[in-house]
Amino acid sequence: MEFNQVVGTRRSIRFFKPWRPVEHSKIQVMLEAANRASRSMNADYTRAIVVHRDDLSGETRAALRNPTTTADLDLAPTYILWYIDLEYINGAQERLNELVELNVLPPSHGWSKAYVDDLVWPQVLKPIADIPEVLMFMGAVETGIAICNALNAAVDQGLGTCLHAFTAADKVKELLHVPDSWIPVWLQLVGYPAEEPEAGGQRPRRPLSKLFFEGDCTKPWQEDPEVTEHLKREGMIQAPAPFPYRAQEVRNLSRMFGLPE
Ligand SMILES: Cc1cc2nc3c(=O)[nH]c(=O)nc-3n(C[C@H](O)[C@H](O)[C@H](O)COP(=O)(O)O)c2cc1C
Repeated sequence: MEFNQVVGTRRSIRFFKPWRPVEHSKIQVMLEAANRASRSMNADYTRAIVVHRDDLSGETRAALRNPTTTADLDLAPTYILWYIDLEYINGAQERLNELVELNVLPPSHGWSKAYVDDLVWPQVLKPIADIPEVLMFMGAVETGIAICNALNAAVDQGLGTCLHAFTAADKVKELLHVPDSWIPVWLQLVGYPAEEPEAGGQRPRRPLSKLFFEGDCTKPWQEDPEVTEHLKREGMIQAPAPFPYRAQEVRNLSRMFGLPE
């Protein structure tokens, strides 16, 4: 799928074909996409555990259930549990130096091993990383970027996916031998959509001019209508929700799965 089409087609899927497993290879593509995501200091912030619904005990599944994650857990065959590993900071200095050696961080921009060891690491990065809130904040941002790649990689491969609140992390930690330095972030459900991939249409979003600015905050971003039309043709902007038959689609899916209507 083309990039614009992937971005436009991605939406949270909540009805999955519970009988159709996700190929291991497709999960690998998602994990590779996550691992290719940009990250500060080239550090390893993100960890994930892939688990399969049918390998989990009823007790574990029940523990993962919460007010915003309900029937989804029974329908999706594969879950990815995403974490930040707060130990990402260990080895970050070496990772930066590796980038210097590879000429990714070039001397033209002031970079050298001495610059990293004597200035950037001790005076800039180490002090901020010593503040727990910053350590967590950076980990959350980088993990979010990685997850975003995994979401799009799922859509690119014809899968449905949705992020969910990750509760019962203490129980999961014990059951799955999760290290103490891992902080739970989100639970990603993955499977083949039982609803149409359009899932009733693209979700409402506020216009760019409400969210983004150019120059300063008094100057809203001005959309170029030609670009907007181009993105419609390319599939980044798609028909908005609700499709006229969406309520019926949801009703029929609910009936098929024995869910409340
Ligand atoms: C970080 C994150 C957490 C979310 N948590 C939940 C959740 O717990 N339950 C749920 O049904 N949807 C969850 N969602 C899905 C959003 O509700 C959904 O993205 C929103 O409805 C916008 O639609 P879209 O993803 O289809 O564009 C989450 C999405 C994100 C990005």
